[in-house]
Amino acid sequence: MKKLSIIFTMFALSYAVHQEPLFDKNEDIDHIVGGKKAKLGSFQFLAVLLRDGESFCGGSLVTSNCVLTAAHCVDYIKPKDYSSIKLILNTSTINPIDSKAIERGVKNIVHHKNYNSGTSVNDIALITLDSPVEDIKPIPLPRIGSTLSYAGMWGTVIGFGRTQKTLADDESSGNGSNTLMESSLQIITNSQCSAMYAESKDAKISASMLCAYAAGTDTCQGDSGGPLIVDGIQIGIVSWGYGCADPKYAGVYTRLTFFYSWIRSNLV
Ligand SMILES: *[C@@H]1O[C@H](CO)[C@@H](O)[C@H](O)[C@H]1NC(C)=O
Ligand SMILES: *[C@@H]1O[C@H](CO)[C@@H](O)[C@H](O)[C@H]1NC(C)=O
Repeated sequence: MKKLSIIFTMFALSYAVHQEPLFDKNEDIDHIVGGKKAKLGSFQFLAVLLRDGESFCGGSLVTSNCVLTAAHCVDYIKPKDYSSIKLILNTSTINPIDSKAIERGVKNIVHHKNYNSGTSVNDIALITLDSPVEDIKPIPLPRIGSTLSYAGMWGTVIGFGRTQKTLADDESSGNGSNTLMESSLQIITNSQCSAMYAESKDAKISASMLCAYAAGTDTCQGDSGGPLIVDGIQIGIVSWGYGCADPKYAGVYTRLTFFYSWIRSNLV
C-alpha cells in the first residue's frame, strides 16, 4: 500500500512537472495554453502511452518493434497489466485520436535494472509492441561512439501538454490540450544545470543526464518519456525537472549517448 502511494505520488509529480501546457516565446499565439501546435504529420514516430484509455506518458518509435520511453513511466507495470496499456502513434490529437492513428499493444517492457527512482539515474525503458509498425520511419538515435555534449545546440521537444488531470487533481479542473505541441529549447552544460539545482539537495545532475532550457520563457518538456530531438536525432528522453513553468530550472533528460549499448542490447 505504501509503495503504491509512493508510485502515485511520483506519477502526480511527473504530471505536475511535465504535463503543464507548453508556452512559447511568441506571446501572441495563445496566452492560456501557449506553445506551438506541431505541424500535422510531422512527428509520426511519437507514441502516446494510454492506460485504461488515459494518456500517462510519451515515447518514440526507435525500430519497427520498439518504443523508447522513461523508466519512471513503466517500471511499476507488471506483465499481467500489459493488456491495459495501449500505444498510439501517428496522431496529432488524442481525444479523439486522428483517423490515421496507429494503435498497438504491449508485448514486453524492459526498464534499466539500475534505474533509481530517488535519483532518476538510468531513466530509460523499451517497450516491445505486439506487432511491428512498418510504415512509420523510426526516429534515429545518436551514432555509436558519439560523445557530443550538445551544449549550446537547440532542440525540439514534443508532447501533448496536459491531457488528463494529475491523480491529485480536481476532476473539474478543465480539459487542457489535446493537441500535439512542440517547443524549442537550448541544451546547456551539466555544470550550468547543476548550478540551477544547487539549492536542492535531492536533485543531482549526473553525467548520464542532459539539461535543456528556454531562457526567459515559460516552457515545459512535454510528456515524460517523450523525445528531445536535435537535427532530426533523438538525444534525450524527458525525465524530470522542477517547476514546469519556472524559468529558474532547466528540464532534465536521459542522455542517450550514455545508453547506446543498453539500447542495442535490449532492442528486439
Ligand atoms: C499517418 O498520418 C497521416 C496523416 O496525418 C497519414 O497521411 C499517413 O498515411 C499516416 N501514416 C500511416 C503509416 O498510417
Ligand atoms: C471537456 O471534455 C468533455 C468530454 O470530452 C466535453 O464534453 C466538454 O465540452 C469539454 N470542455 C471544454 C471546456 O472543452
